[in-house]
Amino acid sequence: MDEYDEMFEVEDHYEEQFADELEVLAELEKKTCKPAKRQKQSTGDDISDIEHLLDDKPITLKCTGQKKEMGVVKRLFNAAESQERKVPSQHDDITPPSSPEHYEPSDAVRSTPVVLDISGFAEIPETPGRHPITDRKRTDTKITESRLIPNSYGALGLLAVPIGVLRTQEAERRHQQVVEESQRLTELLGSSVNGVSAEFENAEDEENADPEDAEGRASRLWVDRFSPRHYTELLSDDFTNRCLLKWLKLWDTVVFGRERKSRPAFSDRQTGGQKSFKPSQGNQNPNRFKSKIEMTEELLAAELDQYKRPKFKVALLSGPPGLGKTTLAHVIAKHAGYNVVEINASDDRSAEVFQKRIDTATQMKSVLGASERPNCLIIDEIDGAPAAAINILLAVLNRKDGPAGEAGAEAAKKKKKKEPLLLRPIICICNDLYVPALRPLRQQAFLLAFPQTQPSRLTQRLAEISVQHGLKADSAALMSLCEKTDNDIRSCINTLQFLHGRGLKQLDARTIQSVSVGQKDQNKGLFHLWQEIFQLPRPKRKRVGEGFEEAPGSGSGAQRFQNVLHLASSSGEYEKVSQGLYDNYLSMRVRDPNLQSTCEALDWLTFSDRLNQVILHGQNFSLMKYLPFLSVAFHFLFAHTN
Ligand SMILES: Nc1ncnc2c1ncn2[C@@H]1O[C@H](COP(=O)(O)OP(=O)(O)OP(=O)(O)O)[C@@H](O)[C@H]1O
Ligand SMILES: [Mg+2]
Repeated sequence: MDEYDEMFEVEDHYEEQFADELEVLAELEKKTCKPAKRQKQSTGDDISDIEHLLDDKPITLKCTGQKKEMGVVKRLFNAAESQERKVPSQHDDITPPSSPEHYEPSDAVRSTPVVLDISGFAEIPETPGRHPITDRKRTDTKITESRLIPNSYGALGLLAVPIGVLRTQEAERRHQQVVEESQRLTELLGSSVNGVSAEFENAEDEENADPEDAEGRASRLWVDRFSPRHYTELLSDDFTNRCLLKWLKLWDTVVFGRERKSRPAFSDRQTGGQKSFKPSQGNQNPNRFKSKIEMTEELLAAELDQYKRPKFKVALLSGPPGLGKTTLAHVIAKHAGYNVVEINASDDRSAEVFQKRIDTATQMKSVLGASERPNCLIIDEIDGAPAAAINILLAVLNRKDGPAGEAGAEAAKKKKKKEPLLLRPIICICNDLYVPALRPLRQQAFLLAFPQTQPSRLTQRLAEISVQHGLKADSAALMSLCEKTDNDIRSCINTLQFLHGRGLKQLDARTIQSVSVGQKDQNKGLFHLWQEIFQLPRPKRKRVGEGFEEAPGSGSGAQRFQNVLHLASSSGEYEKVSQGLYDNYLSMRVRDPNLQSTCEALDWLTFSDRLNQVILHGQNFSLMKYLPFLSVAFHFLFAHTN
């Protein structure tokens, strides 16, 4: 080990490795060089000698032997290097083949049977002297075919196929997949659309379907089947429909954040020539009493409150049954963009439940259904609700935001839970507006009394329905039906269905009059009853050539008798009725100088009073059937056309 090795602690076996060579060198030196020099050299390091020999500097050798020596050394030391270089040098001219664009199996592959064996192409016999291009073509076809055969790649597998071909193959496969998938989806969609349209068609052509289905459908009520879905299909009075829609639109600012368009008042528009309804007479006089229509318009034109809500937070629809009040509320609310939540006040009689349902409907968002529309609460049959429920509703209407400032904050803290402001419209529906429990609500509600449905429109609708079911009904018969039922849509349609169900194919006025359908045991309210008792109906013109019967209440005494008796029996509130008759009979105008009618009326009142006493004291309720005759007697004594 020399100094260098010692210094860097490198161990090598140089002397062992090159022992032979060193010996040769030593011998050569001994032979050719002087002994002094040789000694000097020998005392020195062997390696340093060799390094010296390998030095690039021109060396002037003192003896010719030195040239030989150099040649030997160079040969010795370059031997390893040259061996290393030899291997690549043989292949210097061979560059590794890049992946060809098109498959071209190398000649080596084709010419070597072993390689062919491995790659699975051994079946192609290799004959020397073939044309290289045609050979390639043949091989190409073979390879393409072999790809179709499973496991035909042999040991090389996919390596035998160029990447370009694989890519094309994969792209083709994916394209095929996409095409197949899209075809499948198209078929699926087509079948579902056909299914829906088939369902729709089935629903439309109910009459023409097979008898089993017809039986199921026959049980479905026509009133539900022909219930209006859109604003334009409504049969109720146009002005009422429009007023309710306008009132609902007043909520747009707070519910939908839409700014309210300021429109000229109704009276201004009328003068501007846009008459939407019949102008009332005497429009020119500013000091005259305002008509009901103008008052309603004014109410709707009033400014919004500080929270941008309409002045009246609740609309109260009132009217006799079957005129389409509930239907109108539903259709209008949907038309104005609301989700309808309906509560039946007669059902939820407990105050807590009522409160809960109101809060839920006015504060929660609708989560069912795709469209998250704001709720519009409809409280139906509110005249059947107890006073406690009405008070709860009033409390909800009158909720206020807490007073501002510190005092307000403290007040809010004191309250366990702050009750939120009402920010959703509420529509209430009732038959009798004058139920005592409704009095406080009446003062805070936007009142809309439902007028009778126009018979001409109702007749037209009934004719459409009859035609759809193959029932031939002349217009006189349908008019008669409307009159008999007081233009009650529900009652008219139900009667038609009943008659159709009994196998009737032809409907005329006589049939309508002969059947006892359409008459309902209704409670129209005390005011209506008193009006029927004291007021004679206006005589109606008879239709020429038609056996048109007169409406109940008009015409012959027997009919009037039956009508009043029916109304009084239906009301059931005999005491209240007699009280009202007693209060008003003296104010009726009668041509009776001897006050005979007054004496008879007092007799009847006495009779009624004693009858009542006997019933209550003796618990003899079978006598109650005589109580409604008081109303009939008063009708024949005092009824007047004015
Ligand atoms: N324009 C219309 N065309 C056809 N049918 C209608 C129309 N309007 C209402 N109806 C039908 O008449 C029936 C009675 O309507 P609705 O229930 O709205 O009356 P209502 O005034 O609320 O009666 P009630 O006071 O008894 O609750 C409903 O079944 C409805 O489908
Ligand atoms: Mg209703």
